[in-house]
Amino acid sequence: MAKKIIFLTFMITFLHLTEVKGLELDELTRTVQLEASGKTVTLTPEQLKRGKRLFNNACSQCHNGGITKTNPNIGLDTESLSLATPSRDHMNGLIDYMKDPTTYDGEYSIAELHPSIKSAEIFPKMRNLTDEDLFAIAGHILIQPKIVSEKWGGGKLYY
Ligand code: HEC
Repeated sequence: MAKKIIFLTFMITFLHLTEVKGLELDELTRTVQLEASGKTVTLTPEQLKRGKRLFNNACSQCHNGGITKTNPNIGLDTESLSLATPSRDHMNGLIDYMKDPTTYDGEYSIAELHPSIKSAEIFPKMRNLTDEDLFAIAGHILIQPKIVSEKWGGGKLYY
């Protein structure tokens, strides 16, 4: 009987530990590029949780799994983001995009076509997003390649 209790206590503790470890991403994973200069920033687990929720609500309809449904060439994968002008593979690049999105060459605003703060009147889901929310969403996008690797933006191959 005593042995059984010890064993059960051990198992419960063990399961609990692995669960906590599974949910909390380590600091390195939570660290992303802040701006093109290479400066980095570390997001908190709470910010990433919030980013995931907001992304699922406002973006995943078109960007589920990091792809862009109606334009697979311009996905949310690191390569595509980094080759845009100006580059978007960092927090500030993504936040700028959510405020006032531009064509891939950076020439024109596409705010009337793409959800943004600037066009929140046309896209209701963008209406209540604060700067902190945009920060959290950008963080969510940037850590995905580290978590699900090439599946993020990999398109039909994976999703
Ligand atoms: C109605 C569909 C739709 C929704 C909703 C949407 N997007 Fe997009 N997104 C697109 C399309 C289409 C493009 C490609 C635009 C172009 O042709 O330049 C795009 C492009 C992008 C890009 C540029 C990617 C690159 O490689 O340069 C980013 C960043 C982006 N979206 C982020 C977001 C975020 C963040 C949200 C949620 C706040 C969001 N999008 C919501 C359709 C959508």
